[in-house]
Amino acid sequence: MSLDGFIAGPGHSVDWGGGRALSDFVAAEDFLAVAAATGAMLVGRRTWDVGARLEAEKPGSVDYPFSGPMFVLTHRPLDPPNPEVTTLTGDVAEAVAMALAAAGGKDVEILGADVAGQCLQRGLVDEILVHVLPVLLGDGIPFSPPGFARVDLEPLSSKRSGDATMLRFRPRTSLAG
Ligand SMILES: NC(=O)c1ccc[n+]([C@@H]2O[C@H](COP(=O)([O-])OP(=O)(O)OC[C@H]3O[C@@H](n4cnc5c(N)ncnc54)[C@H](OP(=O)(O)O)[C@@H]3O)[C@@H](O)[C@H]2O)c1
Repeated sequence: MSLDGFIAGPGHSVDWGGGRALSDFVAAEDFLAVAAATGAMLVGRRTWDVGARLEAEKPGSVDYPFSGPMFVLTHRPLDPPNPEVTTLTGDVAEAVAMALAAAGGKDVEILGADVAGQCLQRGLVDEILVHVLPVLLGDGIPFSPPGFARVDLEPLSSKRSGDATMLRFRPRTSLAG
């Protein structure tokens, strides 16, 4: 996320690293540790489409070091189809439950402002992890989707990681307490 709260630039552009891959801002060991703690991913369709477009334009550019179960929330079939991905429609709590069951006791990582926002509003999130990158974008896709209702957070930790700042918070509404 940029310091002014955007997770993508205008039009869902993800080239806001000033010529640098976004992952390069974070210390490699921290990036790998987060991926290693992840047992499944729950991804919104717009996030999936951005990743698929990048991969089509530049194969190998989506290099997140995770290869476990992947669930995409969407109302439409993937185009092109991907047999390694499970598409889900409907209640976000059921989607989280499915991803958790597949995660083998590890974390479920939730990606996409809309999907993460739904999960936060339903009390389904145990922890928010943000890598704040040293840039002010001024415009783009905000962390919280339109219509998002206030959620209070408990600060858990903060640390410098490469050129990013890693912040962890626990929603006070979390069902996990
Ligand atoms: N900087 C970062 O680390 C980071 C991380 C993740 C994402 N992003 C960026 O965030 C942007 C995408 O976020 P976003 O908030 O626009 O969208 P999103 O959360 O990725 O996806 C929203 C879409 O998911 C589908 N969906 C959501 N809930 C659903 C449900 N309950 N049942 C069925 N389908 C459901 C709908 O798509 P359909 O109805 O069209 O199927 C909806 O329009 C992209 O630009 C991406 O690059 C940035």
